[in-house]
Amino acid sequence: MSDGVPFSEFMDGALYDPVTGFYAVEGRAGRRGDFLTSPEVGPLFGALVAERLDREWDRLGRPDPFVVVDAGAGPGTLARALASASPRCAPALRYVLVEASASQRRRHAEHLDGWEGEVDAEGLARFVTSTGSGPRFASSTVLPVDVDGVIVANELLDNLPFDIVRRTPEGAEMLTVVDGGPSTGSVPVELPDEVDALLTRVPMGTWVPWQHRARQWVADALSSLRRGTVIVLDYGDTTDALAARPETGWLRTYAAHERGADPFAEPGSRDITCDVDIDQLSLDRSPDLITTQGEWLEGLGIDDLVAEGRRQWHERATAPDLVALRGRSRVGEAEALCDRSGLGAHLVLEWHRRPTWSTAEADR
Ligand SMILES: C[S@@+](CC[C@H](N)C(=O)[O-])C[C@H]1O[C@@H](n2cnc3c(N)ncnc32)[C@H](O)[C@@H]1O
Repeated sequence: MSDGVPFSEFMDGALYDPVTGFYAVEGRAGRRGDFLTSPEVGPLFGALVAERLDREWDRLGRPDPFVVVDAGAGPGTLARALASASPRCAPALRYVLVEASASQRRRHAEHLDGWEGEVDAEGLARFVTSTGSGPRFASSTVLPVDVDGVIVANELLDNLPFDIVRRTPEGAEMLTVVDGGPSTGSVPVELPDEVDALLTRVPMGTWVPWQHRARQWVADALSSLRRGTVIVLDYGDTTDALAARPETGWLRTYAAHERGADPFAEPGSRDITCDVDIDQLSLDRSPDLITTQGEWLEGLGIDDLVAEGRRQWHERATAPDLVALRGRSRVGEAEALCDRSGLGAHLVLEWHRRPTWSTAEADR
């Protein structure tokens, strides 16, 4: 009898098959999409990311070009909000929307002034070394290299294929997929020692996600940066806390704004995601910052932007214009973005890479 395929392989096909995968057949973030992410709540999130970028630009000595990579950019909503927030770094800004799905990349051009199109590896290298007259935006399927700037990933890592493993007295086992469903038996698997050590913290026999692709993504992102910051925003928790959730509660599926359960039903019809294991992401290098989205946005001045919005609304409330309406909508957006039982509880992880001469010092 066949051992089947690892869950990660099944998930890869279900989400990213170029013809039948969820993201090939128009699955996406947004009010008219399948799930609501922070950029899709409204422009306030982009305005606060713009503030974070300006702070990083200052910290790096205002380089030109200043490269910002939006990894797993989806339809490009964050890029549009950022452009309309007019950050101070805009003249130096080279913004790369890295997106695996062709149907999402096709949306990047919409309402984005300064969009230079989709670039191949050679075009990308030219784009991220060009200077002045920003902001400029380009789409790509790969991360650029040697960048001075920021790599930001909102709800990307939860979407990277993962495996499902557990420890037993005989060793580690992996869940496999046979004929579109979970196999009844499991298959022995050799885990890296450091992952195995993490799993000793959870009760024997408990299924947990093994997020090798997400861990590799962080390593790749850090090595793409010459100096700057990698920022990951996602839902997640520690290994112990994930393992303690009943019924593999770290596994989520979404379709048409409904959170579902069975990841095997009708592959391609729903998103399959996983709460990000921050212990696994910290194995190669601990983040310099781990906080919640609510606290991160407070630190970037969300309360001031909301107060300004309220003022704009009250000043114009008798004859409201677009500025007044945007001001009023900030109040609701901020509530959603900081909601402790929702987006506000998402985690923000930052890894800083500082300019220095020796590699050993470069990361500290
Ligand atoms: C949950 S969506 C998030 C979209 C957007 N960042 C947001 O917050 O609304 C994840 C996106 O990551 C894309 N993606 C998945 N793997 C990727 C990869 N290896 N490189 C680039 N994009 C990827 C998917 O196609 C999808 O559009």
